[in-house]
Amino acid sequence: MPANPPSPMLLALRESTRDCHKALEARLPFFSPRFDEAAYRRLLQAYYGVHAALEHLLGVYQEPERRKAHILARDLRALGLSDADIDALPLCQALPSAADEACVLGVMYVVEGSTLGGQVLKRAMAERLGIGQEGGGAFLDVYGELTGSYWRSFLDRLGKASGAQATTVQAAIDTFSCFQAWLEQRNVLNECSGGQPEGQA
Ligand code: HEM
Repeated sequence: MPANPPSPMLLALRESTRDCHKALEARLPFFSPRFDEAAYRRLLQAYYGVHAALEHLLGVYQEPERRKAHILARDLRALGLSDADIDALPLCQALPSAADEACVLGVMYVVEGSTLGGQVLKRAMAERLGIGQEGGGAFLDVYGELTGSYWRSFLDRLGKASGAQATTVQAAIDTFSCFQAWLEQRNVLNECSGGQPEGQA
C-alpha cells in the first residue's frame, strides 16, 4: 500500500528541525574513530538521563508501549552498571513544555523520530563495537521489527492534530535543544570541530 502523503504538520516539523537534527548528529560521537565501549556506556548513561526525564514528563499522554528508559537501563546493566548505579544517574531537569496535546506531539516527534536513526546506529554499533541486542544495543532498536508501524501510528496521531502547528513546532525545537544541552552538559558530545569529547582522548 502506498504511504500516506506527509501531513502539513509533519512537513512543518521536518522543515523547522532539519538544522537541529544536523547539528546534533554532527556532534554525536557514534562514528568517531576512537569511539569505544567505555564511550558508548557514557553516552547511554547520558541518554538515560534525558529519556527517563522526558518519559516522566509525557506520562499518560504517551502510550505505555513507547516507554524506553527501562530498555536503556537493561543496556546499562549489560554494560556493567548495577541497579544502584542506574538509580543514581542524574536526570535532565531543563525540559520542554508538555502542557497540552500540541506540545506533547512536538516532544514525541523528536523522541519517536530518533528510533528511525537508531536503525542506522544499531548496525554501526554491531559492526564497529560488536555491541548487539543483548550486549547493550537494545535501545538502538527499541521497537525492533515494529519500528515502521510505531512511526506510522505516531504520524496518524500527528495528522489528527487540530491546529496549534506553531506550538508543536516550538516544542520539537525545544526538545532538540533539551537533548543537545543535556548531552553537552554530560560532556558526551564531540567538540564542534568533530574531535572527541573531553576525557576520551
Ligand atoms: C548519530 C546519530 C543519528 C543518526 C545517524 C540519525 C539518522 C537519522 C536518519 C537516517 C533518519 C531518517 C530515517 C528515515 O527516513 O527512515 C532520522 C530521522 C529522525 N531523527 Fe535522527 N539520527 C541520529 C540522532 C538523532 C537524535 C539524537 C534525535 C533526537 C533527539 C533524532 C531525531 C530524529 C527525528 C525526529 C527524525 C524523523 C524525521 C522525519 O522523518 O520527520 N535523531 N535520523
